[in-house]
Formats: sequence, C-alpha cells, structure tokens
Amino acid sequence: MKDSIRHLIQQALTRLTAEGVLPDGLSPTIQVENTRDKTHGDFASNIAMMLAKPAGMKPRDLAQKLIDALPADAQISKVEIAGPGFLNFFQNSDALAERLEAALADEHLGVRKSGPAQRVVVDLSSPNLAKEMHVGHLRSTIIGDAVARVLEFLGDEVIRQNHVGDWGTQFGMLLAFMEENPAAAESELADLEGFYRAAKKRFDESPEFAERARALVVELQAGEPECMRLWNRFNAISLSHCQKAYDRLGVKLTPADVKGESAYNADLANVVADLRSKGLLTEDNGAQCVFLDEYKNAEGNPLPVIVQKAGGGYLYSTTDLAAMRYRSQVLKADRALYFVDQRQALHFQMAFEVARRAGFVHAGMDLEHMGFGTMNGADGRPFKTRDGGTVKLIDLLDEAESRAYELVKAKNPELDDAELRQIARAVGIGAVKYADLSKHRTSDYSFNFELMLSFEGNTAPYLLYAYTRTASIFRKLGKGIEDIGGHIELHAPQEIELAGKLAQFGEVLGSVADKGTPHLLCAYLYDVAGLFSSFYEHCPVLSAEDEGTRQSRLRLAALTRRTLKQGLQLLGLETLERM
Ligand code: ARG
Repeated sequence: MKDSIRHLIQQALTRLTAEGVLPDGLSPTIQVENTRDKTHGDFASNIAMMLAKPAGMKPRDLAQKLIDALPADAQISKVEIAGPGFLNFFQNSDALAERLEAALADEHLGVRKSGPAQRVVVDLSSPNLAKEMHVGHLRSTIIGDAVARVLEFLGDEVIRQNHVGDWGTQFGMLLAFMEENPAAAESELADLEGFYRAAKKRFDESPEFAERARALVVELQAGEPECMRLWNRFNAISLSHCQKAYDRLGVKLTPADVKGESAYNADLANVVADLRSKGLLTEDNGAQCVFLDEYKNAEGNPLPVIVQKAGGGYLYSTTDLAAMRYRSQVLKADRALYFVDQRQALHFQMAFEVARRAGFVHAGMDLEHMGFGTMNGADGRPFKTRDGGTVKLIDLLDEAESRAYELVKAKNPELDDAELRQIARAVGIGAVKYADLSKHRTSDYSFNFELMLSFEGNTAPYLLYAYTRTASIFRKLGKGIEDIGGHIELHAPQEIELAGKLAQFGEVLGSVADKGTPHLLCAYLYDVAGLFSSFYEHCPVLSAEDEGTRQSRLRLAALTRRTLKQGLQLLGLETLERM
C-alpha cells in the first residue's frame, strides 16, 4: 500500500513538474508512513513540506496542488491536508476488504517480494567447536534463522553457512589430551566444557604437554593422518552437541550447512598471494598486512588487516576473505548476511573493504554485517552462571521449559502430563527465542525469565495464547474457513483497524528481509494480537447479528489466525492449538 501511494505521489510530482509548478530536477525520497490515529487517515506523507521551499510555495498550498494532481485510485477513498501540510490518505475499505479476501485465498497470504528473487548466503550460529555452545551463540543462531525463514518465504534462495571455528591453535591442546589418554578423553568428551578445562589444566601444568600440543598444531596443519583422525573425531562430537541444540531450539540448521574455517585452509595461501599480486600487501614487522587509510587507531595511524603472521600462520580475517570469495564466485550469492556479534563490526567493515579492493566479490554483491548486542544477565553484565562461568545453552533451555511447565500447570491443572509437557516446550523454548527476537538486534538486552514467561506484554506466551484464541473460534464452530461463505465487509472501527494491520504483513516481512530485523515482525504480531483482542471484544463473531456479518467476522478471524501462525512460524516458534 505504501508503495502504491508513493507511486501516486510520484505521478502527481511529474505532472506538476511538467506544468511548471515545480522546478525541474527534483528527485525527493517520498516518505509515506502509517498514521497512529486513524481519524487522520491510514497513511501520511510530508512531501509537500519537503518540497515547499524549492517550489517557493507555502506547504499547504503545495499540498492542495498535489491533491488536485493525484490520479484517482480505487484503494484510496479520500486525501486530506492536515496540520502544517501533511497529506493524509484514507484507505477505501471495500478495496481493503478485497485485498484481504485475496490474501485469504492464497497459500502465501498474498505476500510477494517486491524486487527480484535473490540468492542469499546467511552466515549464522558459527560457534567455536573447541568449546561447548553457550548463550553467546544463541542470538546469532535464532536471529539468523528467523531472517533466513523470512527470506525464503519471500521467494529468495537461502544458503545457510555455519562458519564454525574448527581450526586454530587451541586444537593442539585438545588433540594432545585425546592422544595422551584415549579412554578418559572419550568419556570426557560427553561434556566438552569439562574436556576443555581438563586439557587446559594439563597444558598449564606440564611443559612437556604444552610442547606436544604445539607440535600437534604443526602436524594438524601438515595433515598428518593420525592427527587428522583425532581432529575429525573431536569435531564430530562437538558438532553433534551443536546439532542437539539446534534441534531442541527448532532451528533449521543441519550438518549439511556446516562449512567451517578449516574448509578454507587450502585457499589461504592463494588469498595472500592474490593480495600481493594486486599490490595490496605491506610487510610490517614480518607480518603481511593490508592497510586501509580510512581506518585509523587512536594515535591516527592507519590500521592494518593482518592476513599472515610473522611466523607464517593465517588469521581469522584471512579465512573470512577466502569465505567471501567462495560465496561470491562459487555460491554466486547476490547478498551475504553475517549474523555476528556487534563487537566484530570493525573486523567485518575492514574485511569487506579488502575483499572489494581485491575483487574477491563481484561488484553487485552486498556484504552486510548484521551485528547484534550482548545478552546480559539481570545485573546488566554479560550473562554468567552464579560462579562466573559461561551458561550452557542446554541448561538454559532446560530451565525455561521447567519454569514454563510450572506456569502452565498452575493455569491449567486439569491438563494431562503429556500435553502439559508439550505446551511447556513450546512456551519455554518460544519464550527464550521470542525475548531475543523481539529486541532491536543491535541493542544489548537483559535476559529475564520472569518477563519472558509473562502472559502479558510483548512475549511468546501472550502471542501463543492469542493464537489459540483465534483457533478456538473455529474449534467451537466445528468448521474451517473453507466451509464458511460470504465475504469480508468492514464497518466497525475495530474491524477496519484490524484489517488495515493485516494488510501490512507483506510490507513488514519486506523490511525484516532488507534490514535483518525480526523485532519488526514481533512488534507487528503483537499489534495484530492486540487489535484482534479489541475486535473480538467489540464485535461479536459467533453471535453476530446477521449471517453476513457473522461470515465476514469469521473470515477476518481466519485471516488473523493464519497471519499469526505464519508470523510465529517465520520467527521459528512452535504454535499450539490450545494451551
Ligand atoms: N566463530 C566466530 C565466533 O565465535 C564467529 C564466526 C562468524 N562468521 C564469520 N564468517 N566470521 O566469534
């Protein structure tokens, strides 16, 4: 809708320019917003205020000229001037009802991507395999998963890349531990965290062990078979821990999506050689660096991207450069989205710049770091266990489920245990995911079980419950929407407001896909649920005054139900038919 209003305004501008009312050569960005107060129409634009000065007119006079020049459109019932010169557009409710009918008849709820379909690489989760996955990996995993789902729903081709840290010096220590005591290592690997600690202890205590660990790094790099066997064994176990977490979270990631750092090993020397042949390398204290003049340290000296250490070792950046080249040249991506902690922002800015200068990615490819803030504890400090250790993801999910179980049980003591457990899973896991997804991606947030499990406010329990209310209408009715005739008619203000919101689904998904911001979808679903609630309160559905109204309201309820369900699924939440 906003797009078509923009288009109408554009036509009016073209006309006024041709008539000489507006000077040539203006190409303003036309802004159209949803209004908050529906008595002022459904959409508003400040275009007359923006152009008043260059046109040499008063904003309200220009607004009137624009209204006169606007082509007629079936979707718009009237346009008014408000305040200092806003243009307020009123939606035609018959046209709106027709759009909703089309959405209801469509598997895809009438949602289509506005531009051409793209191939998008989504770099997500990407934990370091040396240690157990912890809460820090939660954000990348679930935000990346939600955005990937939205892209797919809009018709893009998504290639998920789990860029796991499966290479590096810490593996020498782990392999040395496995080699030293194979039996103990096997049993300790069930708990990677403990395994890592035990290996680290040996490393710190014994110089011979440390020596062996360093030798093993060299052997690993040389591909020595026994060393590779241990390394493969270790990674397989660590990845299976990750996979358990993904399955538990209901995240669409499989072993096939793993393409870890080690996958680029063979290409790292080429990356450095290519940078050299393009004249981008400078040697600094024996290290190979690319200096980017735009990036300076506190003293004002240019910052380097180091691609090879003085000893010959490669770095995180080198691997990312190789991965970017692969994503461009082999995967032929139009976009690559990196869901990685905000603290790596500088790394990505600089690595993207080097990749562009070196021609590692094709000119049309977008590289976007979708950074996110830190998940803090209630005290506002990074989330830790009571004794200061990292919180294991699995422990966190266990606690969420058991808290949800108690809550749901208190609410519905009559439910049998199996159903309670199923609800507790959807609510508990959903609450953890939703709490994260509903915050602005780039801000830090405090993890708080009480808030995320509340049935009030913008939370998973509230939305899951709102969904069950829409579902219960049809359960009571004993029929699905397929068996209900009639068509949507919009009269009551609550009907019109709900309808207007439902019609925005596609546009909201478009923004989530462009900006990588699932919180927009959360806020939208929360609005839909709230508007549905006031509609349901003011407009009797099953007991509506006449059959036509009843059918219309049932159809509106059916579309609300499908929009909520689809939206929650895109966020990666499991919906329940009752709770
Ligand atoms: N393994 C890294 C970490 O835990 C994240 C990797 C993100 N992806 C990338 N292409 N650099 O910090």
